[in-house]
Amino acid sequence: MSILFHTTEVIILNANIIALSNQKGGVGKTTTTVNLGVGLANAGEKVLLVDCDPQASLTISLGYPQPDKLPCTLSTLMGSLMTDEPIIPSEAILHHAEGVDLLPASIELSGMEV
Ligand SMILES: Nc1ncnc2c1ncn2[C@@H]1O[C@H](COP(=O)(O)OP(=O)(O)OP(=O)(O)O)[C@@H](O)[C@H]1O
Ligand SMILES: [Mg+2]
Repeated sequence: MSILFHTTEVIILNANIIALSNQKGGVGKTTTTVNLGVGLANAGEKVLLVDCDPQASLTISLGYPQPDKLPCTLSTLMGSLMTDEPIIPSEAILHHAEGVDLLPASIELSGMEV
């Protein structure tokens, strides 16, 4: 399996950002993201998982089978940013029993790509 790991340290937030990406489908990006996230949370890290995929597999796998019914997702926040409306990121963040937080996605995100 070859998945690209991009790690960026954002000093101002004192946070590490890990992006898992690969153009090829079905190679374990979502599975790796969930397990890495929960593993880091179990190790005491504060983890926010951001679902950047319009098919929303990460959101579904964390217990939200109908992402389109969520009132606020990543695309909601991006839409507000694009129209200069104020955003409150915490409104979109969901808390999971495994100790990770989630910024969910929905199919609406595909509209942002065009
Ligand atoms: N290490 C592994 N060993 C065996 N099967 C795995 C492993 N990791 C993932 N899988 C399985 O491979 C399939 C694809 O995994 P996953 O959905 O994580 O891939 P993906 O890259 O996110 O796919 P997509 O491109 O559709 O977003 C799933 O059925 C998953 O259970
Ligand atoms: Mg996936």
